[in-house]
Amino acid sequence: DWTMDAIIADAVARIQAAVGSDEVILGLSGGVDSSVAAALIHRAIGDQLTCVFVDHGLLRLNEGKMVLDMFADRLHACVVHVDASAQFLDALAGVDDPEAKRKIIGREFVEVFQAEAKRRVQAKWLAQGTIYPDVIESGAGRKGKVIKSHHNVGGLPETLGLQLLEPLRELFKDEVRQLGVALGLPHEMVYRHPFPGPGLGVRILGAIRREYADLLRQADAIFIDELRAAGWYDQVSQAFAVFLPVKSVGVSAGARTYDYVVSLRAVQTIDFMTAHWAELPYSLLGKVSQRIIEEVDGISRVVYDISGKPPATIEWE
Ligand code: XMP
Repeated sequence: DWTMDAIIADAVARIQAAVGSDEVILGLSGGVDSSVAAALIHRAIGDQLTCVFVDHGLLRLNEGKMVLDMFADRLHACVVHVDASAQFLDALAGVDDPEAKRKIIGREFVEVFQAEAKRRVQAKWLAQGTIYPDVIESGAGRKGKVIKSHHNVGGLPETLGLQLLEPLRELFKDEVRQLGVALGLPHEMVYRHPFPGPGLGVRILGAIRREYADLLRQADAIFIDELRAAGWYDQVSQAFAVFLPVKSVGVSAGARTYDYVVSLRAVQTIDFMTAHWAELPYSLLGKVSQRIIEEVDGISRVVYDISGKPPATIEWE
C-alpha cells in the first residue's frame, strides 16, 4: 500500500542521509524489532550494514538457522554468526539468582558483540531496533522501582564510541510489524511472540546447564508446533515452556523413571503489564504433554501454569 511505501522511502532516505558511506553494525536477535530494523537498514545501505547474530546458547530450537536463512540466504545481508554458547554457559555456571543471571548475560553480550564489532568492520554507527514504547519506558519520567532489569544491549554505544541509528524510534509495535511485512519479512517472523533478551536463561529455573537448555528447547518447540497446528498461536500473546530442575517419578515401558518436569505457560495480554493465563483446550494440552513426554528423553511430567499476572509474572524468573 502507498502509505507503507512512502514510509519506507522516507526512512530509507533518512538512513542514507545520516550514515552516508559509513559502516553500520547491528545486533540481530531474531526478534521482531531487530529483524525489521535490519531489513530496513539493509534496504537503505545494503552491504554497509553488518548484522551480528550472537548465539548465547539460550536460544529456541533452530533460531540461528531461521535468522541466517532469512537474512543471509534470502536478503543477502552480511551476517556474522557468533557461537558464544560456551562462553555464556561458563560464565553462568552455578549462578541461580535471576537478576544475577540477567546481569551476566547482558555483560557477556556486550563483551562478545564489542569484540566482533572491533574485529569485523570499521563501523561508525550502531543500529538498534528501539521502538517508541522502549523510548517511553526507558525515559527519565519512569515511575516506580524496576521489578526486573531488562538487559539487552544496554551500554553498547558508550563502550564502542558509536553513533546510534534507531530508525524505528517513532513507531509502535503494530506499525513495526506492518513495516516488516512490507519489507518482505515472513509473517511467521513478524508476528512472533516476544522473547526475552536473556532467552531460555530465565526459563530454566535456577542454575543453567546446557543439558537443561537442550531439553527445554525440544519441549518448547513441540508446544509451539502444536499451538500453531491448532490455530492457537496467534490467539495468545506469549507461549513457552519453562524448565523445572526437579525430578519426579514416572513409569515408562514398565520401568520406573525419574526425570525432569516442564511447565507450559500461555498468556493473553494487551500490554504485558497484566496478563491472563490462556484457557487452552484440554485436548490440546493433552496432546502437547503426550508428545513432550514421548519425544523428549529426560522429561517425564508436564504441568500447565494457571497463574495470572499479577501476582505471578509472565516469565518464571
Ligand atoms: P514479566 O515476566 O515481567 O514479563 O511479566 C513481561 C514481558 O517482558 C519480557 N521479559 C523480558 N524481556 N529481557 C527482555 O528483553 C528480560 O530480562 C525480560 N524479562 C521479562 C517477558 O517475556 C514478557 O514479554
